[in-house]
Amino acid sequence: MSETPDLRNGPDLRNVSANMQWGGRFAAGPSVVMQEINASIGFDRKMWRQDIRGSLAHAAMLVKLGILTVQDRSDIETGLAAIAAEIDAGRFPFDEALEDIHMNIEARLTERIGDAGRRLHTGRSRNDQVATDFRLWVRDAIDGLDAQLADVMLALAERAERHAADPMPGFTHLQTAQPVTFGHHMLAYVEMLNRDRGRLADCRKRLNECPLGSAALAGTSFPLDRDMTAHALGFDRPTANSLDAVSDRDFALEFLSAAAISAMHLSRLAEEIVIWCSAPYRFIRLSDAFTTGSSIMPQKRNPDAAELVRAKTGRINGALVGLLTVMKGLPLAYAKDMQEDKEPAFDAADAWALSLAAVAGMVRDMTPDTARMREFAGSGFATATDLADWLVRVLKRPFRTAHHVTGRLVALAEAQGIDLAGLSLAEMQAEEPGITADIFNVLTVEASVASRLSYGGTAPANVAAQATRWLQALT
Ligand code: ARG
Repeated sequence: MSETPDLRNGPDLRNVSANMQWGGRFAAGPSVVMQEINASIGFDRKMWRQDIRGSLAHAAMLVKLGILTVQDRSDIETGLAAIAAEIDAGRFPFDEALEDIHMNIEARLTERIGDAGRRLHTGRSRNDQVATDFRLWVRDAIDGLDAQLADVMLALAERAERHAADPMPGFTHLQTAQPVTFGHHMLAYVEMLNRDRGRLADCRKRLNECPLGSAALAGTSFPLDRDMTAHALGFDRPTANSLDAVSDRDFALEFLSAAAISAMHLSRLAEEIVIWCSAPYRFIRLSDAFTTGSSIMPQKRNPDAAELVRAKTGRINGALVGLLTVMKGLPLAYAKDMQEDKEPAFDAADAWALSLAAVAGMVRDMTPDTARMREFAGSGFATATDLADWLVRVLKRPFRTAHHVTGRLVALAEAQGIDLAGLSLAEMQAEEPGITADIFNVLTVEASVASRLSYGGTAPANVAAQATRWLQALT
């Protein structure tokens, strides 16, 4: 990479030598600034594997057409294999003057094998080439991220199975609402991440059409076998409109949308981990493996990984909004604006992958304090709804009436600084004469969660069954 030029004295107009790929038309090369703003090799080298795969498929098809000989193809394969080895070993001479990964590889191939390398670009443009490479890259990223999502789900489902019957306070407005089980809480995230996988699968299905053979924008006069290249590259079919194929980046936008939604999910779990680790809560403990200390406060054990997962949402959302903005208003077909599509996708994929790894690690690492969670599950009149439900079920009171009576009992207990179960039967009967001692059976946390047997509810029996279902699906 050249250094950023000093622009205080005006742009550096020294020319670099004319580009070898289109040099025929150009007397002189670009200015240093032109080269710098134009080049994508600094980041699109990440797609080298996909570029080589695409070229191998294209070459095999050109042999079928008689444009390349069997010898050409074998030279191309040997040349590309050598180039792959060079890149892998960090020995490839990347050249910014060659702009991007496509021209870097092609130039190197020609350097190695001569005319067969020069024939490879027949019936192909960098516009369909980059669209193909980028689809392949996003597809590979989807497969990796899908496996990671499944792993986080597995970690959560294992937790859920272990804690299917362990009560914790359930919150709305972050105020104690009703007891739930820790397992139920874990499985809520399993559902979210499963939808994230669904979005990825949907995105993968729609992106799986091959742009190769659309050429620059209009298609090509060569009778290419586009089905052959599409299938060789694992696509379902070739794209049907060449203008759309070279200028579409929906697949990257859908990928980033799925990333943004998933990052939002991960940020919610991360936030809960931060809250649960805090000293006033102490619902869970993270080991040294997932916390950091403070340089000044010796007692500190900070959940930095959770905080960073929460924060990564920012850059992932930024990537989505960035690419939406790049694509907005672009006339058909390809425009160089679209070169700005890759960095956001690469960055978001990295951030998402790292976040998933961190969440999987923390879920496996955490030690829940089930006794403490149980203690707080009953605080804050968490079983008030159970009392009201009893009045409806046993005394046949209308729910609104039952709600009112319960509210008065909560106020009474609150005034005395005790729990609902601390009230005497006589005190309760003063509000509602029909109440019997049976009421105390529904006021415990255990009774409360066990009663939530409605489908999808938090009853331990439900949670255990759901955890088993997920564990079977995921292993
Ligand atoms: N480096 C370019 C990109 O990433 C490749 C396509 C360039 N095509 C062109 N006609 N200049 O989009």
